[in-house]
Amino acid sequence: MMRAGQRRSSWIGSRMAWAAWTAGVLGMLGATAHADIITIVPVADTTIYEESDELSNGAGPHFFAGRTASGINRRALLRFDFSAFPAGTIVHSATLVLEMDRTNAGPEPIVVHRLLNAWGEAGSIAPGGGGGGGDAQPGDATWLHRVFPDVFWSAAGADFAPTPSASTPVDGVGTYFWSGLGLASDIQYWIDSPAQNHGWILVGNESDQPTAKRFASRQNQEPALRPYLQIDVTFPPGSTGACCIPVLGCVTTTAGLCAQQGGLFQGNGTNCSPDPCPEFTGACCLPNGSCTETTPSACAAANGSYAGDLTSCVTTSCAQPLTPFVDALPIPPIAQPTTGVPGGAAHYDIPMRELFAQLHRDLPPTRVWGYSSSVLGPTIEARRGQTVTVTWQNDLRVFETGQYRTTHPLPVDTCLHGPDVNGEVPFTVVHLHGGHVPANSDGHPDDAFPPGTSSPLYTYPNNQPAATLWYHDHSLGLTRLNVWMGLAGFYLIRDDAEDALNIPRGTNEIPLAIMDRSFNPDGSFFYPPSWHEHVFGDHILVNGKVWPYLHVKRGKYRFRVLNASNSRAYTLRLPGQPTFWQIASDGGLLPAPVPMTNLTLTPGERADIVIDFAPYAPGTELVLTNNAPSPFPAGGGGPLVSQVMKFIVGPDAGHTDPLPASLVPVPRIDESEALLEREFLLRKIPGHHCGQSDVWAINGLMWDDITEFPLLGSTEVWSWINRSGVTHPMHIHLVQFQVLDRQNFTVQGGQVVPVGDRFPPEPNEMGWKDTVQARPFQITRVIARFENYAGRFAYHCHILEHEDHEMMRQFEVCEPVAIVTPPTNTQACEGGTATLVAEVSGSSVQYLWFRDGFPLADGPTGTGSTILGATAYVLQISGAGPADAGFYYCLATNGCSNATSSAATLTVSGPCCDPDFNQDGNVDQDDIACLAQAVAGDPSCSDMDPDFNQDGNVDQDDIDALAQVVAGAPCP
Ligand code: C2O
Ligand code: CU
Ligand code: CU
Repeated sequence: MMRAGQRRSSWIGSRMAWAAWTAGVLGMLGATAHADIITIVPVADTTIYEESDELSNGAGPHFFAGRTASGINRRALLRFDFSAFPAGTIVHSATLVLEMDRTNAGPEPIVVHRLLNAWGEAGSIAPGGGGGGGDAQPGDATWLHRVFPDVFWSAAGADFAPTPSASTPVDGVGTYFWSGLGLASDIQYWIDSPAQNHGWILVGNESDQPTAKRFASRQNQEPALRPYLQIDVTFPPGSTGACCIPVLGCVTTTAGLCAQQGGLFQGNGTNCSPDPCPEFTGACCLPNGSCTETTPSACAAANGSYAGDLTSCVTTSCAQPLTPFVDALPIPPIAQPTTGVPGGAAHYDIPMRELFAQLHRDLPPTRVWGYSSSVLGPTIEARRGQTVTVTWQNDLRVFETGQYRTTHPLPVDTCLHGPDVNGEVPFTVVHLHGGHVPANSDGHPDDAFPPGTSSPLYTYPNNQPAATLWYHDHSLGLTRLNVWMGLAGFYLIRDDAEDALNIPRGTNEIPLAIMDRSFNPDGSFFYPPSWHEHVFGDHILVNGKVWPYLHVKRGKYRFRVLNASNSRAYTLRLPGQPTFWQIASDGGLLPAPVPMTNLTLTPGERADIVIDFAPYAPGTELVLTNNAPSPFPAGGGGPLVSQVMKFIVGPDAGHTDPLPASLVPVPRIDESEALLEREFLLRKIPGHHCGQSDVWAINGLMWDDITEFPLLGSTEVWSWINRSGVTHPMHIHLVQFQVLDRQNFTVQGGQVVPVGDRFPPEPNEMGWKDTVQARPFQITRVIARFENYAGRFAYHCHILEHEDHEMMRQFEVCEPVAIVTPPTNTQACEGGTATLVAEVSGSSVQYLWFRDGFPLADGPTGTGSTILGATAYVLQISGAGPADAGFYYCLATNGCSNATSSAATLTVSGPCCDPDFNQDGNVDQDDIACLAQAVAGDPSCSDMDPDFNQDGNVDQDDIDALAQVVAGAPCP
């Protein structure tokens, strides 16, 4: 909910605003100093079809422009209403935005012209995909009629100005933009002469086929895909005022535009500061679990959680009333190794198990999954430089029957990538989040394995600074569900530098894993049945208990705080807002303690904080609270759950020493070290493989589209460009990075336009990070060294619902290819086998062999020989013949390089089976005797290969084979 001081200027009805109405996602499109940017949606749109005057698509969800495969044209008509723009409005620029969602054609221009005659849109709906048109109804425009069935165009196919107003090439599925002076001057003309506003026609390429493109219309089911027009205008003085709009709050605009948005206009000349708007009402969940509809302030006064303006109690489900702070905070157990010691080199065997756990005193036991039967997995204690190995076992069985699970306790969306192949079977794989580990131990999502199987040996070298890491499930398309069931745990690396600091440790050091969950009345976890873009629980668990309490001594504690939630961000604070200190970020200690009064953690992030309880009298109770809206930061998509846990201060003194002024050096990585900078656009794209719903994507690409190949050992800058209203916690596997800076941007004409200077990261972001808050409409740049381990790793948004719905991709750290040993000159006899080997170094190498410059393929060659290994490092030619002789070389490639070996000559001479063994010109008994002599070890009578039958052994068989050939049999 927006109040004065936070208003987003007068952008209304834009795609982002639609999202705000429908999904609680707010974005910003800033107004420039002198002008207002107004977004409006069409009031009419339809398609006219050349093949029949009785076809139209007035009320259908799409419109079309261009020529079909059978050579028939379609044109789209589109009209906006400018009556709300007062006379004297000056139009500076305009952009028409359309979503193209189906085509069989490549890039084709779509040209916009101004229509010269009025036309109608009635209720015709084209069935199916819409391409064939629907029966025109009275009032619809058609190819010959501007209003069917009585009023005709003067020309078939509509009357429009011959000069185009704008043109844009439209290629594949995506968002397209038309802008330029032509559009702006049409709009100016229509504002000045409203009777001339007949809108535009969209004409495709009608001199080729197929060229047709389908666009979402104003009737599209998905509001975010509907057409809109963004206009940069200056209103005449005195023609605007404050407008009170539900959800958005107060915006300054004209009376007409305000009315179009269902706002309450406060009068020309009024403004938004102070905010004149009355509070709207919405559903409010009270602490006792009941719901009432009231204003946000009344809700807050009643300690309720407000579900958003205009929400209703009918559609809001309020949290069951569980009494907070009745269960003690559990501390997860220390993992016990199979060999070695906790905190040192060790091997662990860790099963994933299903069990029932009491998550709150008053809740029936909940079916959960845990590592080693612990709701929050056991904490793995590791030491820098001492290797830990783990065999992860998927031992998930139905608790009641002991059978391996073939289904998931939570609803699986089998349309998603992963379950589309594996169905509901709970495949799992474990990722050590923040760990610098080899690719084959990273828990790659594609490495997931089913119940009853185990991972290969995972190796964690721990060659990185002391830090709070965590391990969790990472199964492709199931991560959000497997983690929701409980598959997460802490992994702590300690080192000498940390040990040397006088900071709270031992019982004064406590891990806090915060997650939100919802429950069904029987105590089971609730998770929505199909994929949702955010899922927020209405209870907060710390270390696996709902709203627990912790008795503390009067002194300092180090809390290792982890946001292990799927979607929820937290802004944590203590009552009275005392100062606490953050001493570590994701990847290790900060250079110095950072004083703070609140801490925002998005999913996946960690912060080690020190809270001092010494100033509080024994018996004082302090509730750790959260006030981060969901989704973060705009809110409107889920309940605010404000309580987290309670600290109860006891009588005893604790760790009272002051904190050290400095901790460990964190040398900044200089930007000049970067070999390259990559840009990642974060936004939704129209439905890709799961029906209609949009998918969150990175650069519009999918999991299997690998386009980042950092060179092993190199440094890169990755720049997250967040074109959405939600903060995405962007996580990169393998590395710990540093945050370089952030910069605001706006979107103009569909382009990202940076605004103002880059600004530095927050003080608590000046250490090592592996997950960064990429905030709405900002460019967030991080820098990382891609060292030590080549191979494929994931990077993704750590909102697990986004991660499972395509906001996850792979990069491949690449070691360039080098030829270690080229193939050598080889001889083969006719009918024999030749082997050529090219030994190379490099990661993920692919091979292709060439003979005399022509690439080879596996299989029979047509001249009698057979080739195997044409795309492997060993090439084998069997049944060699003269045609196989030539120059052979191998081309080795990978994502970042390629190398060609030098060529080796293959000569093919003489039949392999030459029975004239002693080479005296006759085939006779002498040859058998000579071979027998050679088999016995005396080769003096012949230079030929004594393995006559080519079976790899020199023995009596060879003599027998030769004897048969001498007697007249064919060669073996
Ligand atoms: Cu914590 Cu790839 O995840
Ligand atoms: Cu990770
Ligand atoms: Cu995200």
